[in-house]
Amino acid sequence: MANATAIINLDLEGSKISRHLYGHFAEHLGRCIYGGFWVGEDSTIPNEGGIRLDVVEALRALDIPNLRWPGGCFADEYHWKDGIGPRDQRPRMVNTHWGNVEENNHFGTHEFMALCELLGTEPYISGNVGSGTVQEMSEWVEYLTRDGDSPMVRLRKANGREEPWSVKFWGIGNETWGCGGNMRAEYSADLVRQYATYCRDHGDNKLYRIASGASDDDYKWTRTLMEQINCFGCEATPRTFYQGISVHHYTMAGPWEAKGSATDFDTDDYYRTMVSAREIDRILTGHSTVMDIYDPGRKVGLVLDEWGTWWDVEPGTNPGFLFQQNSLRDALVAGTHFDIFHKHAERLYMANIAQTVNVLQAMVLTDGDALVLTPTYHVFEMNKGHQDAASLAVHLRTEGARRTVGDAELDTLSASASVKDGTVLISLSNLDAEEPAEVTLDLRGRSIGEATARLLTADRLQDHNSAEAPGTVSPRSFDELKVTEQGLILTLPPHSFLTVQAPLA
Ligand code: AHR
Repeated sequence: MANATAIINLDLEGSKISRHLYGHFAEHLGRCIYGGFWVGEDSTIPNEGGIRLDVVEALRALDIPNLRWPGGCFADEYHWKDGIGPRDQRPRMVNTHWGNVEENNHFGTHEFMALCELLGTEPYISGNVGSGTVQEMSEWVEYLTRDGDSPMVRLRKANGREEPWSVKFWGIGNETWGCGGNMRAEYSADLVRQYATYCRDHGDNKLYRIASGASDDDYKWTRTLMEQINCFGCEATPRTFYQGISVHHYTMAGPWEAKGSATDFDTDDYYRTMVSAREIDRILTGHSTVMDIYDPGRKVGLVLDEWGTWWDVEPGTNPGFLFQQNSLRDALVAGTHFDIFHKHAERLYMANIAQTVNVLQAMVLTDGDALVLTPTYHVFEMNKGHQDAASLAVHLRTEGARRTVGDAELDTLSASASVKDGTVLISLSNLDAEEPAEVTLDLRGRSIGEATARLLTADRLQDHNSAEAPGTVSPRSFDELKVTEQGLILTLPPHSFLTVQAPLA
């Protein structure tokens, strides 16, 4: 059994963990929107104005801070004016990226904003650079956020919405190095500056513009964006062209061509997955280091607006729909990502898991009128207390908590901690597939009251939830916390995720 001591100074508060690190992503892809969020007003599935209520109820429990829409790759072929007005008159199009299926545009701007209101979340709209125009994007911002009287305001009002919405997060292009236009970094940076110029702040609505950024460890892309970030035409209200820069990184068990099955994997695949997941630390460090050169005050945010596991699609499903099961392994990928995100809290402002419903590493899977909460859902729920909390550094001293995986070394214990409103929250993962780990939580600087803990694990790494067995992987309370002079001692089972919560005394 591995042994570890986690020293946490409760009186040394670090950077604020932005709640937006717990952000989400909903693309017009497979059954994420249609069948997932949206069933239409005539559906027998309970809905409000066409929006599926069981999905809303499940997601409200996660305190989702923001939702990115409409893509992804889809965003760069989406023309927002096709998605307003009477639904039966909306033009149709082909979703060429995802399954070549027809898109009827029934879920558009008003439906998305209604969804955000039901979820109590902030919209993050991803604008079309790849096949759209500057005017189109500029008018979308005006339509959504301008008050008073103007051509787009009149159009919005004609479609039944008097008041402007408040929209902060605005993506300028998506993966412009690939599906968003196959551009070079230099060309993309120029285009982003151009589009950003015309994405105006209307009235009190202040946009947080997010430039389409790098894939994985393409630090040159980030450097190119950072070199060109200063808006020299903005002397009246000095600002950078874009306030955030995106990056995408997905976790797989192998190369792109052989990502592996979501549930039919062995222990070697599992360890390779964990090595891939923990790569995000190196990637975030690399981008942050480049950004520090140009922005030492850390005003520009790093936005990981796509992350998560990407497996082969479930057998028999449309390959373009990216529908995959979600096992305990996915939950552990999420847990270790959050520990790393918290460590990068000073630069990392937002992260969006891909994607919320029925696509890639989802929170919920639907099948007709059935809804299943995934193991990943439970990690988001158990960790939600970290949102907007002050991070606390965790100094882990371990013995034996390591595995050699090919050429890589995998630390099998992962942890992070924070404090908010007088409550300490500690998250711990034991990534070892077979060995338990005894952990002593050596909490210094402040005393705590009675601690409680919750555990997420299962017999097998491959275990997952289904409509027939929805609770196979679900949290339970964990009563085996020993209070000693050295601290709180607990034994983490193999492949488990645990949270400890305690009030400051
Ligand atoms: O999340 C699925 C796809 O992955 C997104 O559409 C795209 O941005 C990325 O390549």
